[in-house]
Amino acid sequence: MTVHHLPVGDHDPANDRSATAPVDPARLDIKSKQELYHDWEAASYEEKFSISYDQRCIDYARDRFRKVVPEGAGFGSVLEVGAGTGFFLINLALGECLDGARLHATDISSKMLEVCRRNGEEHGLDIETRQGDAESLPYDDDSVDLVIGHAFIHHLPVPGTAIAEMYRVLKPGGTLVLAGEPTELGDKLSWMVKRTTYRAFRAVTAVPGLTRIRKPSIRESGGSEADEVLAGLEHEVDLHTFRPADVEKTARLVGFREVEVVTEELTANWFGWAVRTIEGSTAPGVLGARWAYGAFHGYLTLQRFDDEVLSRVVPREVFYNLILHARKPYRS
Ligand SMILES: C[S@@+](CC[C@H](N)C(=O)[O-])C[C@H]1O[C@@H](n2cnc3c(N)ncnc32)[C@H](O)[C@@H]1O
Repeated sequence: MTVHHLPVGDHDPANDRSATAPVDPARLDIKSKQELYHDWEAASYEEKFSISYDQRCIDYARDRFRKVVPEGAGFGSVLEVGAGTGFFLINLALGECLDGARLHATDISSKMLEVCRRNGEEHGLDIETRQGDAESLPYDDDSVDLVIGHAFIHHLPVPGTAIAEMYRVLKPGGTLVLAGEPTELGDKLSWMVKRTTYRAFRAVTAVPGLTRIRKPSIRESGGSEADEVLAGLEHEVDLHTFRPADVEKTARLVGFREVEVVTEELTANWFGWAVRTIEGSTAPGVLGARWAYGAFHGYLTLQRFDDEVLSRVVPREVFYNLILHARKPYRS
């Protein structure tokens, strides 16, 4: 599992000139790849996904949580699994969803957890972190009131094992909330959007004079061969998409009750991926504040349309994002 001997520097390809040794991903098992890739990505992760700790992201995290957990529910302790830099945990705490709870975070990447601790400190939150594998959690049985996760079980070789582990560490009566996981059908549709947007972007920017707005490659921006190899792992670490009914069934099989899966984001997701594809392909400084404003408000408008109109008529399998809510019974 430990791959820290690989000299990958401080993991920000834009700043890092020290990553010199090529890494051979073929030598690594999938969990070592996850750790290596996310350690490398930790320094630039929040910029890549436009993560912040302000009203925009607080609203996003709180809205996901409040779709399945009512106002007034209190928790003595909360554990985020696959916490990354703390996006979900910290924004939920700032959004007053976790008042008074002791905050814990675990992740396979120690570099992600370093950023998570630092982010917590910057917002007056004391987060206890432990590096570990979601499929073998470093916590005692029956020890946590609420387990949360966001956008991470699709990275696990056997997601059901992690759901069983979350069941084990929850106290009887405890709550599980997993959000931001891709549905099978939603993901297929979003790939079509990403591919079409990318092709259109490349065609438009092939016009003489416009090629300069393309983002420079890792090597052109000073990254090393190792950075290039590590960045390429992005395509190997996303392992799963999910059918809502299968996720419900898995949760029930490991013992959870009051299981429910809700899905969300259809047109908002297509819009979001198109925006992100363009942002990820464009040189820094080209798009500017008006683009960011338009992207954010466009997303919110479509999200309301998805929630208020499409969710009444479109089957839940078609939406992109899945939220699982479940409870560990007092007696199994
Ligand atoms: C896409 S990031 C999501 C991070 C954070 N939850 C968020 O929403 O920003 C996926 C996270 O899952 C973590 N991860 C991958 N495999 C894992 C495993 N087996 N056990 C624990 N964490 C894992 C990665 O290190 C990474 O931080």
